[in-house]
Amino acid sequence: MHVGVFDSGVGGLSILGSIRSALPSVRLSYCCDNLNFPYGTKSDDQVVRFTVDVTSRFFAEAKFDVLVIACNTASTIALAAVRAALPIPVVGVVPAVKPAAAASRSKVIGVLATPGTIRRPYLADLIREFAADCEVITCGSSGLVQLAERKLRGDIGTDDEFKREIGEIITGCGKGLDQLVLGCTHFPLVADELRRVLPPGVLFVDSGGAVASRVAAIGRELNMPEKSAGNIISPEITGYCSAEPFELTVTGIDLGTAAKLRLRRLP
Ligand code: DGL
Repeated sequence: MHVGVFDSGVGGLSILGSIRSALPSVRLSYCCDNLNFPYGTKSDDQVVRFTVDVTSRFFAEAKFDVLVIACNTASTIALAAVRAALPIPVVGVVPAVKPAAAASRSKVIGVLATPGTIRRPYLADLIREFAADCEVITCGSSGLVQLAERKLRGDIGTDDEFKREIGEIITGCGKGLDQLVLGCTHFPLVADELRRVLPPGVLFVDSGGAVASRVAAIGRELNMPEKSAGNIISPEITGYCSAEPFELTVTGIDLGTAAKLRLRRLP
Protein backbone atom coordinates (compact mmCIF):
# COMPACT_ATOMS: atom_id res chain seq x y z
CA MET A 1 0.00 0.00 0.00
CA HIS A 2 1.18 3.51 -0.81
CA VAL A 3 -0.09 6.31 1.45
CA GLY A 4 0.12 10.01 0.63
CA VAL A 5 0.32 12.35 3.64
CA PHE A 6 -0.51 16.03 3.18
CA ASP A 7 -0.20 19.05 5.46
CA SER A 8 0.24 22.79 5.00
CA GLY A 9 3.71 22.47 6.55
CA VAL A 10 5.87 19.96 8.44
CA GLY A 11 3.24 19.09 11.08
CA GLY A 12 1.91 16.15 9.09
CA LEU A 13 5.21 14.40 9.79
CA SER A 14 3.86 13.66 13.29
CA ILE A 15 1.01 11.72 11.64
CA LEU A 16 3.40 10.13 9.16
CA GLY A 17 5.44 8.92 12.17
CA SER A 18 2.35 7.27 13.70
CA ILE A 19 1.48 5.56 10.39
CA ARG A 20 5.05 4.31 10.05
CA SER A 21 5.06 2.93 13.62
CA ALA A 22 1.83 1.03 13.00
CA LEU A 23 2.61 -0.03 9.42
CA PRO A 24 6.42 -0.13 9.04
CA SER A 25 6.47 -1.48 5.49
CA VAL A 26 3.94 0.85 3.97
CA ARG A 27 5.24 3.15 1.23
CA LEU A 28 4.85 6.82 2.21
CA SER A 29 4.93 10.05 0.25
CA TYR A 30 4.72 13.44 1.97
CA CYS A 31 3.62 16.79 0.62
CA CYS A 32 3.38 20.24 2.17
CA ASP A 33 1.94 23.45 0.78
CA ASN A 34 4.82 25.78 1.57
CA LEU A 35 3.45 28.27 -0.96
CA ASN A 36 0.29 28.93 1.06
CA PHE A 37 1.44 27.99 4.60
CA PRO A 38 0.14 28.74 7.24
CA TYR A 39 -3.48 27.61 6.80
CA GLY A 40 -4.50 28.48 10.38
CA THR A 41 -4.80 32.20 9.60
CA LYS A 42 -6.52 31.83 6.20
CA SER A 43 -10.22 32.06 5.33
CA ASP A 44 -12.35 28.93 4.91
CA ASP A 45 -12.56 29.44 1.12
CA GLN A 46 -8.80 29.80 0.80
CA VAL A 47 -8.11 26.64 2.83
CA VAL A 48 -10.53 24.61 0.68
CA ARG A 49 -9.06 25.96 -2.57
CA PHE A 50 -5.42 25.42 -1.55
CA THR A 51 -6.06 21.93 -0.17
CA VAL A 52 -7.94 20.68 -3.25
CA ASP A 53 -5.38 22.19 -5.62
CA VAL A 54 -2.24 20.86 -3.91
CA THR A 55 -3.61 17.39 -3.01
CA SER A 56 -4.79 16.94 -6.64
CA ARG A 57 -1.31 17.78 -7.95
CA PHE A 58 0.27 15.57 -5.26
CA PHE A 59 -1.93 12.65 -6.34
CA ALA A 60 -1.21 13.23 -10.05
CA GLU A 61 2.52 13.05 -9.31
CA ALA A 62 2.82 10.34 -6.61
CA LYS A 63 -0.21 8.11 -7.42
CA PHE A 64 -0.80 6.73 -3.91
CA ASP A 65 -3.69 4.45 -2.89
CA VAL A 66 -4.90 6.41 0.15
CA LEU A 67 -4.56 10.08 1.06
CA VAL A 68 -4.28 11.35 4.64
CA ILE A 69 -5.05 15.03 5.17
CA ALA A 70 -2.68 15.32 8.14
CA CYS A 71 -3.87 18.82 8.99
CA ASN A 72 -6.72 19.60 11.37
CA THR A 73 -7.21 23.06 9.89
CA ALA A 74 -7.79 21.57 6.41
CA SER A 75 -9.70 18.49 7.60
CA THR A 76 -12.27 20.57 9.51
CA ILE A 77 -13.31 22.38 6.32
CA ALA A 78 -11.95 20.77 3.12
CA LEU A 79 -12.45 17.03 3.55
CA ALA A 80 -15.66 16.76 1.48
CA ALA A 81 -14.17 18.80 -1.38
CA VAL A 82 -10.99 16.66 -1.51
CA ARG A 83 -13.07 13.46 -1.42
CA ALA A 84 -15.11 14.76 -4.36
CA ALA A 85 -11.93 15.61 -6.31
CA LEU A 86 -9.94 12.37 -5.84
CA PRO A 87 -10.83 8.77 -6.84
CA ILE A 88 -9.24 7.20 -3.71
CA PRO A 89 -10.08 6.95 0.01
CA VAL A 90 -9.27 10.16 1.88
CA VAL A 91 -8.72 10.13 5.66
CA GLY A 92 -8.88 13.31 7.74
CA VAL A 93 -7.68 14.17 11.25
CA VAL A 94 -10.12 15.11 13.97
CA PRO A 95 -9.02 16.88 17.19
CA ALA A 96 -9.06 14.16 19.86
CA VAL A 97 -11.79 15.77 22.00
CA LYS A 98 -13.66 12.51 22.52
CA PRO A 99 -10.82 10.48 24.14
CA ALA A 100 -9.63 13.50 26.14
CA ALA A 101 -13.10 14.13 27.63
CA ALA A 102 -13.53 10.43 28.39
CA ALA A 103 -10.14 10.24 30.16
CA SER A 104 -10.47 13.49 32.14
CA ARG A 105 -10.96 13.12 35.90
CA SER A 106 -11.22 16.83 36.66
CA LYS A 107 -13.60 17.40 33.71
CA VAL A 108 -11.51 20.39 32.67
CA ILE A 109 -9.80 19.81 29.32
CA GLY A 110 -7.88 22.00 26.90
CA VAL A 111 -7.85 22.18 23.11
CA LEU A 112 -4.77 23.70 21.53
CA ALA A 113 -5.15 24.25 17.77
CA THR A 114 -4.77 26.87 15.06
CA PRO A 115 -7.03 29.95 15.17
CA GLY A 116 -8.88 28.50 12.13
CA THR A 117 -9.69 25.19 13.83
CA ILE A 118 -10.70 26.93 17.08
CA ARG A 119 -13.32 29.12 15.40
CA ARG A 120 -14.86 26.41 13.14
CA PRO A 121 -18.34 24.98 13.89
CA TYR A 122 -16.75 21.54 13.41
CA LEU A 123 -14.90 21.90 16.73
CA ALA A 124 -17.96 23.33 18.52
CA ASP A 125 -19.98 20.31 17.31
CA LEU A 126 -17.29 17.88 18.55
CA ILE A 127 -17.29 19.56 21.98
CA ARG A 128 -21.10 19.52 22.16
CA GLU A 129 -21.24 15.86 21.20
CA PHE A 130 -18.35 14.41 23.21
CA ALA A 131 -17.39 16.86 25.96
CA ALA A 132 -20.72 18.23 27.18
CA ASP A 133 -19.78 17.24 30.75
CA CYS A 134 -16.44 19.11 30.62
CA GLU A 135 -15.27 22.66 30.82
CA VAL A 136 -13.32 23.03 27.58
CA ILE A 137 -10.62 25.68 27.45
CA THR A 138 -9.61 26.49 23.89
CA CYS A 139 -6.47 28.23 22.71
CA GLY A 140 -5.73 29.16 19.08
CA SER A 141 -2.09 29.76 18.22
CA SER A 142 -0.35 30.24 14.93
CA GLY A 143 2.88 31.21 16.70
CA LEU A 144 3.15 27.68 18.06
CA VAL A 145 2.91 26.34 14.50
CA GLN A 146 5.85 28.57 13.60
CA LEU A 147 7.81 27.32 16.64
CA ALA A 148 7.32 23.73 15.40
CA GLU A 149 8.46 24.68 11.87
CA ARG A 150 11.54 26.35 13.36
CA LYS A 151 12.34 23.30 15.49
CA LEU A 152 12.47 21.02 12.44
CA ARG A 153 14.89 23.46 10.86
CA GLY A 154 17.15 23.22 13.91
CA ASP A 155 16.07 26.34 15.83
CA ILE A 156 14.39 25.50 19.15
CA GLY A 157 12.37 28.28 20.79
CA THR A 158 12.78 29.38 24.42
CA ASP A 159 10.41 28.45 27.28
CA ASP A 160 9.15 32.03 27.29
CA GLU A 161 8.24 31.85 23.62
CA PHE A 162 6.24 28.67 24.24
CA LYS A 163 4.53 30.11 27.35
CA ARG A 164 3.48 33.20 25.43
CA GLU A 165 1.57 31.05 22.91
CA ILE A 166 -0.46 29.01 25.40
CA GLY A 167 -1.61 31.55 28.01
CA GLU A 168 -5.21 30.21 28.18
CA ILE A 169 -3.95 26.67 28.77
CA ILE A 170 -1.58 27.76 31.53
CA THR A 171 -4.51 29.57 33.19
CA GLY A 172 -6.66 26.43 32.71
CA CYS A 173 -4.07 24.37 34.60
CA GLY A 174 -4.91 26.50 37.63
CA LYS A 175 -8.49 25.19 37.31
CA GLY A 176 -7.33 21.56 37.24
CA LEU A 177 -7.02 21.00 33.46
CA ASP A 178 -5.75 17.41 33.15
CA GLN A 179 -6.04 16.51 29.44
CA LEU A 180 -4.71 18.66 26.59
CA VAL A 181 -5.83 17.95 23.03
CA LEU A 182 -3.06 18.71 20.56
CA GLY A 183 -5.51 19.70 17.81
CA CYS A 184 -2.88 20.69 15.27
CA THR A 185 -0.49 18.18 13.75
CA HIS A 186 2.44 20.51 14.31
CA PHE A 187 2.06 20.37 18.08
CA PRO A 188 3.19 16.77 18.82
CA LEU A 189 6.50 17.87 17.24
CA VAL A 190 6.99 20.30 20.14
CA ALA A 191 5.50 18.08 22.88
CA ASP A 192 8.80 18.06 24.82
CA GLU A 193 8.94 21.86 24.84
CA LEU A 194 5.26 22.13 25.87
CA ARG A 195 5.81 19.60 28.64
CA ARG A 196 8.61 21.76 30.03
CA VAL A 197 6.26 24.72 30.58
CA LEU A 198 3.14 22.84 31.82
CA PRO A 199 2.51 20.98 35.09
CA PRO A 200 3.54 17.29 34.98
CA GLY A 201 -0.04 16.03 35.57
CA VAL A 202 -1.31 17.33 32.22
CA LEU A 203 -1.60 14.54 29.64
CA PHE A 204 -1.38 15.22 25.91
CA VAL A 205 -3.79 13.58 23.48
CA ASP A 206 -3.29 13.60 19.73
CA SER A 207 -4.87 11.89 16.75
CA GLY A 208 -1.86 10.02 15.29
CA GLY A 209 -2.81 6.57 16.57
CA ALA A 210 -6.44 6.90 15.44
CA VAL A 211 -5.39 7.96 11.93
CA ALA A 212 -2.91 5.07 11.66
CA SER A 213 -5.65 2.61 12.71
CA ARG A 214 -8.02 4.03 10.09
CA VAL A 215 -5.35 3.70 7.37
CA ALA A 216 -4.70 0.09 8.42
CA ALA A 217 -8.46 -0.66 8.31
CA ILE A 218 -8.73 0.80 4.79
CA GLY A 219 -5.81 -1.39 3.70
CA ARG A 220 -7.65 -4.46 4.98
CA GLU A 221 -11.02 -3.41 3.49
CA LEU A 222 -9.44 -2.84 0.06
CA ASN A 223 -7.25 -5.89 0.38
CA MET A 224 -4.06 -3.89 -0.14
CA PRO A 225 -0.94 -5.52 1.28
CA GLU A 226 1.15 -3.29 3.53
CA LYS A 227 4.24 -4.09 1.48
CA SER A 228 3.94 -2.79 -2.07
CA ALA A 229 7.51 -3.20 -3.37
CA GLY A 230 9.66 -6.12 -2.31
CA ASN A 231 10.26 -6.69 1.39
CA ILE A 232 11.65 -3.33 2.36
CA ILE A 233 11.09 -2.33 5.97
CA SER A 234 10.80 1.44 6.38
CA PRO A 235 11.19 2.32 2.69
CA GLU A 236 12.46 5.83 2.04
CA ILE A 237 9.88 8.60 1.98
CA THR A 238 9.38 10.72 -1.12
CA GLY A 239 8.79 14.38 -0.31
CA TYR A 240 7.04 17.10 -2.32
CA CYS A 241 6.14 20.73 -1.76
CA SER A 242 4.28 23.44 -3.66
CA ALA A 243 6.99 26.14 -3.73
CA GLU A 244 10.77 26.34 -3.14
CA PRO A 245 12.31 22.88 -2.53
CA PHE A 246 13.91 22.38 0.90
CA GLU A 247 15.45 19.77 3.15
CA LEU A 248 14.67 18.79 6.75
CA THR A 249 16.69 16.88 9.31
CA VAL A 250 14.04 15.08 11.32
CA THR A 251 14.61 13.52 14.71
CA GLY A 252 12.12 11.31 16.51
CA ILE A 253 10.42 10.16 13.30
CA ASP A 254 11.67 7.19 11.32
CA LEU A 255 12.33 8.37 7.78
CA GLY A 256 13.73 5.06 6.57
CA THR A 257 17.24 4.90 5.20
CA ALA A 258 17.61 8.68 4.89
CA ALA A 259 18.12 10.93 7.92
CA LYS A 260 17.04 13.91 5.88
CA LEU A 261 13.80 14.49 4.03
CA ARG A 262 14.15 16.34 0.76
CA LEU A 263 11.00 17.99 -0.54
CA ARG A 264 10.94 18.67 -4.25
CA ARG A 265 8.61 21.05 -6.03
CA LEU A 266 5.43 19.61 -7.52
CA PRO A 267 4.99 20.24 -11.25
N1 DGL B 1 -0.70 21.41 10.83
C1 DGL B 1 -1.91 22.15 10.63
C2 DGL B 1 -3.04 21.60 11.50
O1 DGL B 1 -3.03 20.47 11.91
C3 DGL B 1 -1.92 23.65 10.66
C4 DGL B 1 -0.76 24.50 10.42
C5 DGL B 1 -1.08 25.78 9.69
O2 DGL B 1 -1.56 26.76 10.30
O3 DGL B 1 -0.87 25.79 8.47
O4 DGL B 1 -4.00 22.31 11.77
